[in-house]
Amino acid sequence: MATLKIFFFVLLIQCTIFTGSSRQLKKSNINIDSYGDNTVNVISFGAIGDGKKDDSKGFKRAWDACDSSTPSPTFLVPQGKTFLLQPLTFNRKHCNSNNITFQIDGRIIAPTKPSTWECNTNCHHWIGLMNFDGLHIQGSGTINGQGDNWWKLSCKDNQKSCQLRKPTGFMIGHSKNVDIKGLTFEDSPKMHIAFEDSTSIHATQLTIKAPGNSPNTDGIHIQRSTNVSIHNTTIQTGDDCISIGDGSKYINITNIECGPGHGIRYTLLQSSSFLVL
Ligand SMILES: *[C@@H]1O[C@H](CO)[C@@H](O)[C@H](O)[C@H]1NC(C)=O
Ligand SMILES: *[C@@H]1O[C@H](CO)[C@@H](O)[C@H](O)[C@H]1NC(C)=O
Ligand SMILES: *[C@@H]1O[C@H](CO)[C@@H](O)[C@H](O)[C@H]1NC(C)=O
Ligand SMILES: *[C@@H]1O[C@H](CO)[C@@H](O)[C@H](O)[C@H]1NC(C)=O
Repeated sequence: MATLKIFFFVLLIQCTIFTGSSRQLKKSNINIDSYGDNTVNVISFGAIGDGKKDDSKGFKRAWDACDSSTPSPTFLVPQGKTFLLQPLTFNRKHCNSNNITFQIDGRIIAPTKPSTWECNTNCHHWIGLMNFDGLHIQGSGTINGQGDNWWKLSCKDNQKSCQLRKPTGFMIGHSKNVDIKGLTFEDSPKMHIAFEDSTSIHATQLTIKAPGNSPNTDGIHIQRSTNVSIHNTTIQTGDDCISIGDGSKYINITNIECGPGHGIRYTLLQSSSFLVL
């Protein structure tokens, strides 16, 4: 009888430990937010959000928590915090949903000094989103590329390679059916947002800000992309508000407040068609 009691006692403890830890895991990682059942909050994966500690690992872990069995995941960057990120690319491949939401309500900042960026000599972009099909990027958050020290880098010796080395702030590449809404982008080292090799990208209600004398800080650059719309957006930068590179077509841009900045510019117009401005 005594052994039986002990046995049950041990069993009970084990059950408590088991349910306790599994509940904790679930509670702390998924499902605690008001954004739907499959919300992953970067805070639950080790991101701190004090603006000083590198939060890249927390963001990576949160993103890795999404797998092909997650139906409509929301990747949440909560408000009231500042997250420091090294260059980071989110690739949809392992998170194989056609309805992914990036809810960015907090502030995301880049490292201040170019020499501390972890991308050797050539950072193509700071934050990248690749291979998505069905992506919603939204929220009241701010994405600040801390471009100030990049702008000060002397390009006297080699203007071209110097400009090439500067990273784009936020890049969406090889993706389709993307909408991006509400966010603020500030002080990118080079262009703030780039759409590359993508189809059906719709941007609205964005605010893009950098000083009028910041070099090469285009607001939005469109490259080899089709069916892109940009509406109701305010852009104040040191270079073009919107620039359209080659291989782009079906571009619809309306209601842009632009300035300071150089307006809307398209290069190689012959390969573009159906521009509505
Ligand atoms: C897409 O995901 C969002 C956020 O989770 C959800 O509100 C919406 O209903 C989903 N849409 C579809 C078509 O599943
Ligand atoms: C352009 O995008 C819209 C909205 O995503 C979509 O309904 C439409 O079919 C697309 N048009 C083309 C030509 O891809
Ligand atoms: C742009 O703003 C106008 C006026 O406020 C509004 O009617 C329209 O729905 C908005 N369009 C988009 C795509 O946000
Ligand atoms: C361009 O977008 C505006 C605003 O959404 C819309 O009213 C207009 O019909 C679009 N033009 C074309 C040619 O699709």
